[in-house]
Amino acid sequence: MWGGRFESAPDAIMEEINASIGFDQALFQQDIAASKAHVAMLAAGGVVTPADADAISAGLDQVLGEIEGGRFNFSRALEDIHMNVESRLAEIVGPAAGRLHTARSRNDQVAVDFRLWVRDAIDQLDRQLHAVQLALAETAEAHAGSVMPGFTHLQPAQPVTFGHHLLAYVEMLGRDRGRFRDARARMNECPLGAAALAGTSFPIDRDMTARALGFDRPTANSLDSVSDRDFALETLSTIAICATHLSRFAEEIVLWTGPFFGFLRLSDKFSTGSSIMPQKRNPDAAELVRGKTGRMIGALNGLLIVMKGLPLAYSKDMQEDKEGVFDAVHSLSLCLAAVTGMVRDMTPDVDAMRAAASSGYSTATDIADWLVRRLGMPFRQAHHVTGRVVALASARSVGLEQLTLDDLRTIEPAFEQDALEVLAVEQSVASRTSYGGTAPQNVKAQAEGWLARLRGEARG
Ligand code: ARG
Repeated sequence: MWGGRFESAPDAIMEEINASIGFDQALFQQDIAASKAHVAMLAAGGVVTPADADAISAGLDQVLGEIEGGRFNFSRALEDIHMNVESRLAEIVGPAAGRLHTARSRNDQVAVDFRLWVRDAIDQLDRQLHAVQLALAETAEAHAGSVMPGFTHLQPAQPVTFGHHLLAYVEMLGRDRGRFRDARARMNECPLGAAALAGTSFPIDRDMTARALGFDRPTANSLDSVSDRDFALETLSTIAICATHLSRFAEEIVLWTGPFFGFLRLSDKFSTGSSIMPQKRNPDAAELVRGKTGRMIGALNGLLIVMKGLPLAYSKDMQEDKEGVFDAVHSLSLCLAAVTGMVRDMTPDVDAMRAAASSGYSTATDIADWLVRRLGMPFRQAHHVTGRVVALASARSVGLEQLTLDDLRTIEPAFEQDALEVLAVEQSVASRTSYGGTAPQNVKAQAEGWLARLRGEARG
């Protein structure tokens, strides 16, 4: 492709370190689509003849068919997907194929191919995120009133409902989708036509190629077009954040399916056994969702480090942008599918959750609130009085709900019978009606709101 000023072939190691075809063949569809848009534009502007453009376009379709049909021989000597496609095109079309590369460079070619690939990946991940949200929201609606312990510091804090807990993740994933949407909107500008770095002297129509490839507009600066990869970085950072959300949920599945919690059960479809310990049911899928988050965060770090020292415009370092992105997209896609599967598969043990919810003096705050509401006590003082109530229960090794009114009155004589009622976990969650709070009626309304939006999206 550049033999003019070279006399010998590259060293074998040069070829090995230089070649990207092993991974960038994943871009073949995008590469061919972009080439077809480019040659159609060149013909429209009179840069190539309609006959040559038609031949090139038909030849590109043939190459596409060969790759899709597994009949294409990728050659490492041809370095990357761009030269593999063009070289085969030359075999099919003859010398006219050489006109395709007028007014472009592999620098803008790879920039456009990669953007198209990332854009498709975002669309696919968004569909999968929708599926996880739907599974979570449906389960949340069914368990809007199932009481479980809410934790801080992984210690029982206040009772919440299982539906409320699941909807927390629906919110997080909703923001992840928003981040993907933002990244997609920002990246949807077409770099094709920036050529090597400076633009071109040919009369090209960048609006035409941008439109043909579904971009909102062409990029405005040719140097920026070929040298930035912030679209990939933004996508990776969204992937890393989303994976972190999934990882926290996965960690809870690991804890909750274990015998010490016993809140959830996964069926045989999502459990694995041990080769030595017959009693084991391991939540491997959840552990791998948690584990794969490491490589996704790593991909973001990796590309940030590749980019941070590069002067404008293109440097070959940038060829290192793809594998991390491909792997991260694949990993997140797998994790999203696994989480959807586990949510649909899991059976909550509502009795175990309820029993755990009343342990650990989890309704102590409700007593303090009673003192504030009924006796007009300042909250700090109510907190102190309640602390003594908890200490009394603890000294007797009983739960708060086992204390009698007389017990309470040894600490604060003004306690009355209805102070005992706030100790029930159902009463506790039902009272938390503030907007965004865990009261079952709130949770039900939130779940219904999400379900209406998510189902509407699926139809729209
Ligand atoms: N395979 C290269 C990459 O992925 C394509 C661009 C090559 N451009 C160049 N000037 N060598 O970045």
